[in-house]
Amino acid sequence: MPVTKSVRRLTAYTPGEQPKAKDVVKLNTNENPYPPSPQCAKVLADFDLDRLRRYPDPEFSALREAIAKMVHVKAANIFIGNGSDEILALSAKAFVENDEVIGSLDPSYSLYKTLAAIRDVEWRGFDDLCEVKGEKAKKLSLFLLTNPNAPTGVLKPCAEVAAFAKRFKGILIVDEAYADFARENCMSLAADEKNKNVIVMRTFSKSFSLAGLRVGYCVGPKPLIDALYKVKDSYNVDAIAQAVALAAVKDAKWMRANVKKVVATRRRFVAELEKRGWDVLPSESNFVFARPAHAKASEIFERLRGRHIYVRYFSGPKTVDRLRVTIGTDGQMATLLAALDEFDK
Ligand SMILES: Cc1ncc(COP(=O)(O)O)c(C=O)c1O
Repeated sequence: MPVTKSVRRLTAYTPGEQPKAKDVVKLNTNENPYPPSPQCAKVLADFDLDRLRRYPDPEFSALREAIAKMVHVKAANIFIGNGSDEILALSAKAFVENDEVIGSLDPSYSLYKTLAAIRDVEWRGFDDLCEVKGEKAKKLSLFLLTNPNAPTGVLKPCAEVAAFAKRFKGILIVDEAYADFARENCMSLAADEKNKNVIVMRTFSKSFSLAGLRVGYCVGPKPLIDALYKVKDSYNVDAIAQAVALAAVKDAKWMRANVKKVVATRRRFVAELEKRGWDVLPSESNFVFARPAHAKASEIFERLRGRHIYVRYFSGPKTVDRLRVTIGTDGQMATLLAALDEFDK
């Protein structure tokens, strides 16, 4: 049979639904409800099609320099991917031997488990970082730590992550997809040259409102960054993506203003849910993970879907009683709350 055994066994990752209809309230994939910087629109409008005749810069030099300036590190310590999902896949290639193990918290970003399966290595889930020790830590060469975590939204203080990085023998990737919505982040760990095993990863998909563009980046020690360059496709980030992401970085204040709006809406939305008796985990992200006061999460999910309001429901044992709701505009959250008032009885 031409398809390998590991792929035949594989259950593919299920991304959040992308409904085709226009008039939906889409709060299921943690996208930003606000548009990207107008500078991105300008770059697209002015993009010289002749540039598409040529291959893009394989080292994304201009974008790398701009990101380096933004996060205060050297360009040589930065790698850019076709979305941070690509960086995760490349890391599984570059940092994990065939008999080694990829670890992460459970629950966290469910793609990690699928990536291990695609790479045909074992994945191990942990309730918390303090459990990553002894027998359980054996053969663990790569740990993927979402911080703030998803789907919980809860942030681990940087000091705790630093202490873990110090005692962990493998490579730690801190996946900071949602860090711009949080009070603190771990970029200082990746910038510190004393740390030889820490990579911090970010994306343009959330705070920068560019999920459709597919650009993510990571910062880390040069030997690890160089390893990622070795295993990437020659032209993994296309010319348009490089140009638009560069415009977004140069106008980062636009992103920060959008983040401020999302965080303010999050505060108001959490207060509304709590008023209705929902249990909401303390979120430092652009989503909340909440347990309904009365009805079953799965029932509310289906009824909302029937009303073209999309949130995310994960059926696993640790997530079954909650819904993950992306923070949208105030208007979208009001529509959702009105529906919840009907459905959560
Ligand atoms: C924790 C986490 N990491 C990475 C990603 C993927 O980001 P990107 O769009 O950059 O591939 C997501 C997307 O939802 C995510 O939740």
